[in-house]
Amino acid sequence: MMNVEVMRVTSLIGGEPAGQAQGREMDVISPFNGEVVGVVSLASAEEAERAIESAHRVFHETMKKMPAHTRADILRKTADLLEQKTEAFARILVLEAGKPIRDGRAEVGRAVQVLRFAADEAKKIEGELVPMDAAVGGENRIGMVRRLPIGVISAITPFNFPLNLALHKLAPAFAAGNTVVLKPAGKTPLSAYMLVNVFEEAGLPKGALNLVIGNGSEVGDILVTDSRISKITFTGSPSVGLNLRQKAGLKKVTLELGSNSPNIVFDDGDIEAAATGLVRGAFAFSGQVCISAQRIYVQTEVYQTFLDQYVSSVKKLVIGDPAEELTDIGPMISEKEAIRAHEWIQEAVEQGAILATGGGREGTVLQPTVLVDVKPDMKVVCEEAFAPIVSVIPFETEEDVVEMANDSIFGLQAGVFTSDINRAMRVAEGLETGGVWINETSTYRQDNYPYGGVKQSGVGKEGVKYAIDDMTERKFIGIKWS
Ligand code: SIN
Repeated sequence: MMNVEVMRVTSLIGGEPAGQAQGREMDVISPFNGEVVGVVSLASAEEAERAIESAHRVFHETMKKMPAHTRADILRKTADLLEQKTEAFARILVLEAGKPIRDGRAEVGRAVQVLRFAADEAKKIEGELVPMDAAVGGENRIGMVRRLPIGVISAITPFNFPLNLALHKLAPAFAAGNTVVLKPAGKTPLSAYMLVNVFEEAGLPKGALNLVIGNGSEVGDILVTDSRISKITFTGSPSVGLNLRQKAGLKKVTLELGSNSPNIVFDDGDIEAAATGLVRGAFAFSGQVCISAQRIYVQTEVYQTFLDQYVSSVKKLVIGDPAEELTDIGPMISEKEAIRAHEWIQEAVEQGAILATGGGREGTVLQPTVLVDVKPDMKVVCEEAFAPIVSVIPFETEEDVVEMANDSIFGLQAGVFTSDINRAMRVAEGLETGGVWINETSTYRQDNYPYGGVKQSGVGKEGVKYAIDDMTERKFIGIKWS
């Protein structure tokens, strides 16, 4: 493990430290070895209100008047600074989230790109003209639609991509001229704190981004119900997302929730590419990814070939200290989560599933686990595992597999491996998911396409341009002349 200097962080309101009241401290613990890696001062409800007040004031005084070229410059500078600090951020992701160091670096690289996409998009927020004379009586009128920032946005972010999923909310918000109150996951507040400092170093006005580090619903509820908030954007569990939506009233809401993503391997697909891709697809960051491959459907003709190849590759994954360069599989976020996932495996085995590999747990580390002979109603299949667990399931026909894949309360992304373009398009159309990859796993995501689920996987889209769309208000202005 790395040498650790315990980091002390606070909430930040208008650029000033907050949340330093006595007795409101919380340790940030390394999920790998339980060491204290940070100490956080938790914000109170009153401080959450002050953070909203700060964001509200800076929106009206500064951000909504800031020209697009200045917003783009700030975003580009933030990207450059973040890129220079790649190692420092990757290291913090190892410490607070237990993310393997190579995955940490990859996350920082993606976050830099998100900022650059946002810098480009800031200059492309176009309006339109409405043909007013299309209506009888509309002669001598012109209508324009302007896209204006919506105001204060609550961004509530998860532990699994603490940096990049925060930037998927912050970068489009600033590109459009909004201000933000950011509440990071309680387990991963350190990277969020560092990120706020980078934005300020890049010239973002103080108070445009306020950080509220809080525990449970004490501050969370305020960030959802306060009338000065115009939009809530949340990534996390379906139960919290649903609760939040019920409390949000008329505010705009984007929810990126979970899934149990299906991946389909047809007998005419590239079996080797599928087997290789789905190793990372199921086990990257111990499966704690919303689009992690959880159900792999393989056509019976190639089932055994795929399974042998797959299991042999999974067995080669290096399990261990996330700080080590060679580590593929580190800890899960907490022992509680590892125990829960381990119990799901044991329950499946008791119900008849067979372990093709894995199944063991040591503390927070769960072995990469492949199950076969599963049934659709086992938790490992029908609920979101969010753990290094995947099931390999045989199927006969295209119709069967589309039905099997759609037999889910979720629908975020899917992967399909086939060399038949007609089949690829039919299946892509038939799958009830927000996105489908052909000859790529469900776990692949690029940060510039619309990303968001159907069913209980969420509402709304992220992907910089698409998030901006929802973070602007279309305002109509008409002119009449004589
Ligand atoms: C998620 O887990 O919600 C996002 C996955 C990604 O951005 O790769």
